[in-house]
Amino acid sequence: MDKLYIRNKTLNIPLIQGGMGIGVSLGNLAGHVMREGGMGVISAAQPGYLEHDFKTNTIEANIRALEKEILKAREISNGQGLLGVNLMVAAEHYDVYAKAISQMDIDVIISGAGLPLELPTLSVNPDILLAPIVSSSKAMVLLIKRWLSRANRYPDLIIIEGPLAGGHLGFSWDQLNNQTFPSLESILSDVLIALKENNWDIPVFVAGGIYTKEDIQKFLELGATGVQMATRFITTFECDADIKFKEAFIYAKESDIRYVISPSGYPGRAIDNKLVTTLMSNEKIKVKHCYNCLKPCNPATTPYCITEALIQAVKGNIDEGLVFTGVNGYRNKTIVHVSDLINELFPKEESIV
Ligand SMILES: Cc1cc2nc3c(=O)[nH]c(=O)nc-3n(C[C@H](O)[C@H](O)[C@H](O)COP(=O)(O)O)c2cc1C
Repeated sequence: MDKLYIRNKTLNIPLIQGGMGIGVSLGNLAGHVMREGGMGVISAAQPGYLEHDFKTNTIEANIRALEKEILKAREISNGQGLLGVNLMVAAEHYDVYAKAISQMDIDVIISGAGLPLELPTLSVNPDILLAPIVSSSKAMVLLIKRWLSRANRYPDLIIIEGPLAGGHLGFSWDQLNNQTFPSLESILSDVLIALKENNWDIPVFVAGGIYTKEDIQKFLELGATGVQMATRFITTFECDADIKFKEAFIYAKESDIRYVISPSGYPGRAIDNKLVTTLMSNEKIKVKHCYNCLKPCNPATTPYCITEALIQAVKGNIDEGLVFTGVNGYRNKTIVHVSDLINELFPKEESIV
């Protein structure tokens, strides 16, 4: 497989490991993906959840933790691959985090869960690549025009996230309930047409439900430059979550994967458990402490605190936690090493003796 050059940065394999918050993709997972020549991504969603002052000094705790995780990923990577940080647009204090992150030792800022219209005006380091996540060609065109008019800057790569992804989904409840969402294949086709029509030469990565090397091959043949994959990397030894979080995938059945409401306003996809059943029967869980994490969330009316639920999950308290997953989460049946998974997904050409 040919190396991929994006400006002055090189990827040996066209793989982005999707950012997973809270605490699911930190420095360990990202560093091991980088070591294999891919892009490792640390999630900027409350990475400081284990810091002593997380509750009282959340922003500083998060920034401090991010710096530690970046250092860890760089050490593990042995100089290979690229390092990204995923920052959600829906995050409270987005501007503060974007500015802080753009001064850290990373290669890429990836930003979704909302349209990152202001990102190029906030990122102070021009060497860092900027990668918006979009779910339609319409959103992509709007975003590029805005970036050009405000900052005279193109995205360095674009990630399209389709309806089969994990975490928050960029589709409405109506679209999901009535199954009227477009497929990732059709969004990719629309995006490639729009890029061509506008003479924009930008690499496109696709995300959501990509699971096997055949899936990857299919999307490369359809014109994608690469893929972003998250769910498959959860059941690796190197994933930063507790073993019980990983086991929730090993034990999950297809029928356990369902939609869930989120204080972000976007629907999410998660593994069914006590919490999801409670929430989907319209019961509320009282917020004990507000971490001020998501712009759209009102702690007085929210059905639950998503920071609390995601922290419980990543720590292994599965019944009380929210276990985000892509549609294929139930297919993760063994825990493997990142190196073996990447060798399976991107087999090295066999040497001819
Ligand atoms: C546990 C989990 C947490 C996630 N957290 C985030 C996040 O914090 N920010 C984000 O932009 N996407 C998040 N995602 C989405 C992934 O980065 C990725 O784009 C998507 O899941 C790809 O689909 P796949 O999981 O089927 O490979 C999350 C996904 C999962 C499964």
